[in-house]
Amino acid sequence: MARSSTVFICSACGGETLKWQGQCPLCGEWNVLERREAPKAGAGAVPAAVPAAALALDSAPEPARAPSGQAELDRVLGGGIVPGSVTLLGGDPGIGKSTLLLQVAAHVAAGGRPVLYASGEESASQVALRARRLGLTAGTLEVLPETHLQAVLARAAGRQAALLVLDSIQTVRSGEMDSSAGAVSQLRECTAQLVRFAKSTGTAVVLIGHVTKDGAIAGPRVLEHLVDTVLYFESEAGSRFRIVRATKNRFGAVNELAFFAMTGTGLKEVRNPSAIFLARAAQPAAGSIVTVTREGGRPLLIELQALVDRMRFGAPRRIAQGLDANRLAMLLAVLSRHGAVSLQEYDVFVNAVGGVRIDETGWDLPVVIALASSLRDRAVPDSLVSFGEVGLTGEVRPVAYGEERLQEAAKQGFRLAVVPRDNAPRKPIEGLGVIAVSRVIDALSAVFSDSPASRAVPPPAPPKSAPARS
Ligand code: TYD
Ligand code: MG
Repeated sequence: MARSSTVFICSACGGETLKWQGQCPLCGEWNVLERREAPKAGAGAVPAAVPAAALALDSAPEPARAPSGQAELDRVLGGGIVPGSVTLLGGDPGIGKSTLLLQVAAHVAAGGRPVLYASGEESASQVALRARRLGLTAGTLEVLPETHLQAVLARAAGRQAALLVLDSIQTVRSGEMDSSAGAVSQLRECTAQLVRFAKSTGTAVVLIGHVTKDGAIAGPRVLEHLVDTVLYFESEAGSRFRIVRATKNRFGAVNELAFFAMTGTGLKEVRNPSAIFLARAAQPAAGSIVTVTREGGRPLLIELQALVDRMRFGAPRRIAQGLDANRLAMLLAVLSRHGAVSLQEYDVFVNAVGGVRIDETGWDLPVVIALASSLRDRAVPDSLVSFGEVGLTGEVRPVAYGEERLQEAAKQGFRLAVVPRDNAPRKPIEGLGVIAVSRVIDALSAVFSDSPASRAVPPPAPPKSAPARS
């Protein structure tokens, strides 16, 4: 069959179809297909097979990674910038992508290696102004205000750049295509060319990518498939703290996190992130508790807050910030059935302090304790931490890395931990008392045992004996 000379590319998913349709058959989006000339038969034909040199795995050299100047970022990258790698950094406008990469570029350049910062977003003098504000010394860093990809690559190749920063991938266009910058076909083609360039020259390439409202890097997911590493720059609105998260990394672990603070002189790494989330009130307050979660392969202490307030009208509200609202609803039901704490008549708010999102079940038990604390208006001691999953029958279930979490809590000066029985440490941890519980009701009575206010709530139901399991 003769190959059709035009194809239609979906601007949402990057998929290809042979005939125009109102709806992309691959992703289901409407009015997204763009006409494009199909490559001539033979133009992209595979050259006669020349066997590539095979390499014994053991003799593969470990790449010499370049430090980025930010130990936190290096850790997320898996130990530094790998030569010939392509990294995509995504994030909302104004979050600090350009600032971070200018700092990284200046650091690499300060080591005497040629670095090119190509900016299609800002003029050279704007970038220079920012560098001066940040107190960066230019060294071998060159700024190129250019949106033409071939010109950028030619300059990078001419200088044998060790690092090429492209700010941003949405502003460059390749002369080989006639669609405008930012179109899916352009993004895909430019990224593919940059990947080929990086692999053939050994220049490390970092691309900045804008993020859409729903948090994906604007343009197709295909960008994420093409590059080696995908980093997301995140922060909670109004917070000066920033988190860089790796969601894909061919050279290291994913879900590693780096913490930064935006200051008047650029981004400063935060070495002890637990400290950010633990800036608590001087007096212990009702409804506040500290949990140990795990983010990016390490334990992290985070304050959780709960507020219960008598409902004024309509249905009770259940609002969760940084935590899953459905899980909160489940915990409220468990509390009512198995913890003798009914919050049916109360609005309930819970919040993970510091704008983090906790995507694990370890926050169940501390939230249950915080809810009871708010209801009884009794503060939990501020030297207490808790973590653990809560099940529908009122049981407290273990979570992964219990011992590591307890060690971190002890290191941060906590004295008492309320944890699932199966997470109790085998050897005592210095300075940390552990209350191991197997039921929600036990956790509540352990924390609020001496509570005179506990009479204000319905008396606890007699603890049910655990059903015998074979
Ligand atoms: P920028 O790096 O331009 O963000 P992006 O490239 O992700 O769009 O950062 C812009 C914001 O950072 C801007 O609102 C000002 C702030 N900022 C500081 O607070 N301190 C600084 O030293 C710099 C350079 C920027
Ligand atoms: Mg920018």
